[in-house]
Amino acid sequence: MDRRTFIKGAMALTAAAWTNPMIIISAAENISWWQKKPVYQIYPKSFLDTTGSGTGDLRGVIQKLDYIKSLDAGAIWLTPIYPSPMVDNGYDISDYTGINPLFGTMADFDELIAEAKARDIKIVMDLVFNHTSDKHPWFLESKSSRDNPKADWYIWRDKKTNWRGIFGGSAWQWCEERQQYYLHTFATQQPDLNWENPDVRRALYDAANFWLDKGVGGFRIDAIVYIKKPKDFVDGTPDADGTCSVHNMTANTPGILDFLHEFKREVFDGKNIFTVGEANSVKPEDLKYWVGSQGVFNMLFEFSHVNIMFPNGDEVWHHAKPIRLTNLKKALSDSQAATRDSWYPIYFENHDRSRSIETFFPHGTDKILAAKALAMILFTLRGTPFIYQGEELGFANTKFNSIDDYDDISSRGEYNLARADGLSDKEAMRFVQRFSRDNARTPMQWNTSANAGFTAGKPWLPVHKDFKICNAAVEDLDKNSVLNFYRQLSAFRNSSEVLISGEYAELYHNNEELFIFTRTLGNKKICTAINFTTRKINFPNDFKFGKKIFGNYPDEKNYLRPTEAAIYEF
Ligand code: GLC
Repeated sequence: MDRRTFIKGAMALTAAAWTNPMIIISAAENISWWQKKPVYQIYPKSFLDTTGSGTGDLRGVIQKLDYIKSLDAGAIWLTPIYPSPMVDNGYDISDYTGINPLFGTMADFDELIAEAKARDIKIVMDLVFNHTSDKHPWFLESKSSRDNPKADWYIWRDKKTNWRGIFGGSAWQWCEERQQYYLHTFATQQPDLNWENPDVRRALYDAANFWLDKGVGGFRIDAIVYIKKPKDFVDGTPDADGTCSVHNMTANTPGILDFLHEFKREVFDGKNIFTVGEANSVKPEDLKYWVGSQGVFNMLFEFSHVNIMFPNGDEVWHHAKPIRLTNLKKALSDSQAATRDSWYPIYFENHDRSRSIETFFPHGTDKILAAKALAMILFTLRGTPFIYQGEELGFANTKFNSIDDYDDISSRGEYNLARADGLSDKEAMRFVQRFSRDNARTPMQWNTSANAGFTAGKPWLPVHKDFKICNAAVEDLDKNSVLNFYRQLSAFRNSSEVLISGEYAELYHNNEELFIFTRTLGNKKICTAINFTTRKINFPNDFKFGKKIFGNYPDEKNYLRPTEAAIYEF
């Protein structure tokens, strides 16, 4: 049967899925600049080293602005570049209004803003306001006595609870000087700020406004769900290791939105910027309080689709369960539905996640097909696509054999937890290799020269072994590369009214092999179809083809080949 006959036959069949889609989402009006183009996320430490130090720097970002422009990105989100002891690679800040000398100077930053502006690209800063470094002068003062002016800028208690920190171990640390414990949701060296104190909030708002005065285009707001703590601390239900995740005890504590509305009034309101909060475990039904007209941010990174391997929500790596496509589809569709009157940040990768081509597809999947398939989702869902450095080149996970070779602090915490739960070194390492944040942090692969052109020195983390074939220079010259696919998709998405504003509808919701959805605006429709298996799969009987405009296979069949994905226009 040729394709034409197939379509004719298919049209004669019931079109139930098309006329009765699972979810319909209405179009947005008044589109802002940050809705029109993707955001490119840079992890500066691993981007480009211009000094031979082995660590990337701001001048490296300036050098690669044309590369980012080639992806038609409208903004660059920089993970923290502030002074920091780098225990958590910059998420432990010791000065909110400075530049870490490791990355350069304030003059470099000003030049970056200007050079990016010349290319119509805005710079977006990462605000880490739940905690500081334990070397921040505020903390040094706070810990010095119980009656200094900053004595209650952090969370101090005489007694600790059984909470486990997100990076492992107790969430409380004893301080000899004060003879008290302080709370740290993340590492011991990241003490939590006390948002109940108005002086703390004022100091944080001033820091954010400092960067706005410099002309930044917005903020990604880190770990924001933890800023409000429950009033009276009590022990939580003990987990197997005798402690209970701090996340379950403090995330989204009622009253948090009052703080955030104040934050919005004092910093964001009336500015032509965007804000995206990192908000693990905000439920889709609560999204309306966080984003949109009633909300506080423009977008929210919630984790529902990236955490589908942790159905009970504990995020302990060795508790990971096999992924079901229907769960991924449900998470994405629920989020699309929940942001129907607001906006969604579409992402599969960032500096905290393993590489997506290894996360969402079965073992053995062709990596280039997978990278292009995910790109088709990234650019055709409703929202702003966020590209994480290397994703546009099809980067894969790295693999170190010993826990000592991992830099990521959470990898060590998870390894210890797995060992304490009785897993062997080999078993624990399997989970570290799969989930380590170092998977996303290996240096960018620019070309085939030594260290992939990332540094003339010794890279702070080893370059991925496949860099000779997977790098920007090689992919630039290959018209079928993942990079050129990203460029084409981005340009298409940015000029497509249907993709920017069209309604979202998911079809064939219960299908465990295919993800198919449409975007509709007036009488125009775009349909994305992906085969998530490594087998040939037939289209559903009533599937309508349209004109194929993108695909990860060059030609077209009336079935989907392994990992085949296509975008159709009607
Ligand atoms: C966020 C960051 C992560 C960091 C943590 C603590 O989740 O994305 O990299 O370790 O907050 O600041």
